[in-house]
Amino acid sequence: MAKLNINGSVRDVQVEPDTPLLWVIREQVGLTGTKYGCGVAQCGACSVHINDAVVRSCSMRVGDVKDSDRIVTIEGLSKDSSHPVQKAWAAIDVPQCGYCQSGQIMAAAALLKQKPKPTDADIDAAMTNICRCGTYQRIRTAVHLAAGNGNPSRT
Ligand code: FES
Ligand code: FES
Repeated sequence: MAKLNINGSVRDVQVEPDTPLLWVIREQVGLTGTKYGCGVAQCGACSVHINDAVVRSCSMRVGDVKDSDRIVTIEGLSKDSSHPVQKAWAAIDVPQCGYCQSGQIMAAAALLKQKPKPTDADIDAAMTNICRCGTYQRIRTAVHLAAGNGNPSRT
């Protein structure tokens, strides 16, 4: 049994403490925007926020989440896709297949919370999520757009 605060709602879930948080989010809570990619903390498809920091939920035991921790998934980032990162992603048309993109958006939102005006080097250091479709240039452009850094051109 665990008590999780996800997207502002407290949920009681019946799971073993060593269950990965990702599976609880997807299967017990039913929020499937958070994706499974590698399962070993390498790809970032499963990225969520815990207390505003980005976390790879495939590699976090649900038993290590505290009652007081605030978990935010892609579904809770904004009510109507109005978060600056979501708006920039749409404006630049970042996704191709889309599979990695909820994780990319969560990583970008956490970066901007920590560093509102990131440099290219900051973006490259923070955005370590893998994209099989190679959308990295558009991701970087969209992060700059979300940050209000100048007038990025579409790539
Ligand atoms: S599924 Fe979690 S990092 Fe790849
Ligand atoms: S958009 Fe396809 S994996 Fe990133």
